[in-house]
Amino acid sequence: MTVFSKYYPRNATTNFIAAAAFDMSGCPYFEKRHLLFKNRPPKTEDEDDVAQAGVNKASKGGIIYGDYLQLDKVLGAQVLQSELKANKIHDEHLFIVTHQAYELWFKQILFELDSVRDVFISGHVRDERNMLKVNTRIHRIVMIFRLLVDQFAVLETMTALDFFDFREYLAPASGFQSLQFRLLENKIGVPDNLRVPYNRRHYRDNFKGHESELLQTTEQEPTLLKLVEAWLERTPGLEVDGFNFWQRLEINIFEGLKVEKEKLQSMSDGEEKEEMMDELAKQKEIFTSLFDEKRHDHLLSKGERRLSYKALQGALMINFYREEPRFQVPFQLLTSLMDIDTLMTKWRYNHVCMVHRMIGSKAGTGGSSGYHYLRSTVSDRYKVFVDLFNLATFLVPRHWVPKLNPNIHTFLYTAECCDSSYCSSEDSD
Ligand code: HEM
Repeated sequence: MTVFSKYYPRNATTNFIAAAAFDMSGCPYFEKRHLLFKNRPPKTEDEDDVAQAGVNKASKGGIIYGDYLQLDKVLGAQVLQSELKANKIHDEHLFIVTHQAYELWFKQILFELDSVRDVFISGHVRDERNMLKVNTRIHRIVMIFRLLVDQFAVLETMTALDFFDFREYLAPASGFQSLQFRLLENKIGVPDNLRVPYNRRHYRDNFKGHESELLQTTEQEPTLLKLVEAWLERTPGLEVDGFNFWQRLEINIFEGLKVEKEKLQSMSDGEEKEEMMDELAKQKEIFTSLFDEKRHDHLLSKGERRLSYKALQGALMINFYREEPRFQVPFQLLTSLMDIDTLMTKWRYNHVCMVHRMIGSKAGTGGSSGYHYLRSTVSDRYKVFVDLFNLATFLVPRHWVPKLNPNIHTFLYTAECCDSSYCSSEDSD
């Protein structure tokens, strides 16, 4: 008896492996096959018992898998319009399941988003230990979006012709009527006035009754953007009568630019010096606009900036001092918020690419120009946390960043509300 057959009694699988091994005489691993199983001890009777231990608890009553998940509803919800019209098209099943999977994940994102907004709205975020919960849930949203961005690849296994076969049956239904997608955009903070019009009409015109009211409510409720803005405005270190980060930064930057200019002036004249002088002038212009509150308000009114002046200062401060213990979690949050924007942009981009390949430049089933309408939504207008991306424009050499004095340094170690992990805190849920 070979080592192989001793440890693995013959059955259909091992017969197949043995037969395959016949053709593997040239394979170096086949030559050493006796070593492959050498150290694997035979299964003892005890091990077999352990694997089979346990009792079937469901036999004693209580809720079972299918009932707990209400699978009769979920798995009974794939009604092919093509089949109802007596022309069953195979790929319509995939089309429906894909959309339903998206809607389920949208639901989960909304669930997480609402819970995060509640932490901010209820003021629990003032206890900085709740920031971990906020971060975890926002990170979860990021991970779901990652999945959603990639999920289009499955639907893309359907060809344009396969789609054409059943497309007529689903009109005038369209993803444009996805209530959850609009709620999501609104709750994160896509502003109404920056939306691309749809056939020159307001996006809400596609919704009626309760759905329209719900959307209107979310337009008025505090968005994630507004809540984060209020939180950023309270960044420790911004106080004018305290560390006064903003004023110190302004002084340091203009002092730094002056020193740079003096260095350049001492260089011998030439093309290189001219280019560096031009670059320095551009830098000066950028920083002059950064410290100009009126200019900020003007950009805000045009939608080119979204955060208040104070919140922008807080975000920049968190970026510069991200290694300080108190700023590490806030820095992670700002990073995740950018991830959400990036992934939503990728979602729009992947969706529009797929639409282009499925319907070319035909109008959408919902009535828009289709590809051309969708392409115009892949834009910074829909980037809610655009200011966080633009912060990179204002980064400066580390030695220009105001030094923390010992007092403020200690302060940045200590949480605002309660600095003991054992003291009680009101929780958000
Ligand atoms: C073959 C696949 C798909 C095609 C051809 C397609 C086509 C379109 C078109 C043409 C529009 C513009 C509105 C219209 O006139 O109908 C649209 C919008 C939309 N679709 Fe799709 N779609 C597909 C798959 C999906 C999937 C899987 C989802 C996932 C939920 C989805 C969600 C949306 C959403 C949310 C909008 C509104 C986007 C906006 O206005 O910014 N679509 N789709």
